Amino acid sequence: MSNTATGDHTADPQQFAQYRLGDTELVRGEGVRAWDSTGREYLDCVSGTFNLLLGYNHPEVIAAIRAQAGDLVFAGSSFQTGPTNRVMQQLVEISPANLTRVNLRSCGGSTANEGAVKIAQHHTGRRDVIVPFRGHVGQTLAAASFNGTTRMRAPFPHRFPGALHVPDPYCYRCFYRQTPQTCGKLCVERIEDFITYAGSGSVACVLIEPVSGVGGNVVPPPGYFQELKRFCEEREIILIFDEIQTAFGRTGEMFAADHFGVQPHMMTVSKGLTGSGLPLAAILTEERMAGWDRSLHSFTYGGHTLSAAAAVKTLEIVQRPGFLENVRASGAVLVDRLRALQKDHPVIGEVRGLGLMLGVELVKPDGGKAVEEAHAYQRALERHGVLTRVSEHGLGNVIELRPPLVLTPADAHLVADRFGEALETLG
Ligand SMILES: Cc1ncc(COP(=O)(O)O)c(C=O)c1O
Repeated sequence: MSNTATGDHTADPQQFAQYRLGDTELVRGEGVRAWDSTGREYLDCVSGTFNLLLGYNHPEVIAAIRAQAGDLVFAGSSFQTGPTNRVMQQLVEISPANLTRVNLRSCGGSTANEGAVKIAQHHTGRRDVIVPFRGHVGQTLAAASFNGTTRMRAPFPHRFPGALHVPDPYCYRCFYRQTPQTCGKLCVERIEDFITYAGSGSVACVLIEPVSGVGGNVVPPPGYFQELKRFCEEREIILIFDEIQTAFGRTGEMFAADHFGVQPHMMTVSKGLTGSGLPLAAILTEERMAGWDRSLHSFTYGGHTLSAAAAVKTLEIVQRPGFLENVRASGAVLVDRLRALQKDHPVIGEVRGLGLMLGVELVKPDGGKAVEEAHAYQRALERHGVLTRVSEHGLGNVIELRPPLVLTPADAHLVADRFGEALETLG
């Protein structure tokens, strides 16, 4: 593909990549918008890879990165720096009050989740990790072994042992064929059976996304996390919230834990932490889990100084007055408008989510999963200049929407207009 914006690329780039490249080459981004090499504009409703919390190239974050680059790009793991010290302090200040310690030695979500599991195993002296069916833990070999969806585990013959997969709190398609009003939270109660009959009997932790990200935007019913925490504490199991997609305002609260009113024993964060796309991750723990040897979980690029400078600015911005209110207001516009579309289009089975973490579940007339329709809708949306994704790494029937949190209500209306226009083209 030739590219006038970035130079004369006469060779086909597909011949160099070990995997199939996407067809579009992005060359510029600003806020919720990105432009490709042909000059086409997109409203990016998936925030890059769900990580551009403040959108493309937030000017204050870029300025912080530039200033830090002038002083010190990188410091080794045995040194303190101003930005790494400050970001740990900010994380403790804004997270649930019981989380008082930060491990800032991972670069991404997979390694942060593995670190959290290592800490839980070390702390409890136990083994298994309970993960919901639709849970996404990550891409490293252990994290991939823990992923809920078979497709993400099947290609690897030597999987890491110890994952115990349990039905998730997915009320729209309840595993136990119950309704939220009458179910008695079987999706918590029955975990006991999985522990007794399906695992090693030695459980270290539950690792759960409070709202599932790639798994279809599953929002647990009220009371679920209270029950789950009680279940965990009765068995001295560590409850870990993977807030890699949900943290820092995504759900309209600083953390999804705040929305659900539950304090997990540990929390992992990454993606949105640096606002405009630098790699960084953190594991937050209770005081009782402090005191590890740093070398037990520490990556060369973990706690990167430049990323930390970006994170300090990002965490300052998300705490400004009005920031979370904008997330709620723009999210409400999208939910109201998409639910209005649902009335005329039975292919939309459910519109669900919190803040700007939304999912649109597409269904067949018999209630089955409309997977092909979801892909067709996603492609139609892209033709209308809106970037979305399809759940469960493309195997699912839920269109995922996670625009940057700087999306204005006016842009939310524009996105909703295009959802309507794209739907009309599907017939
Ligand atoms: C909820 C969740 N956890 C973990 C990960 C893995 O993060 P990373 O790709 O940074 O390793 C992801 C990535 O999509 C995610 O969405």
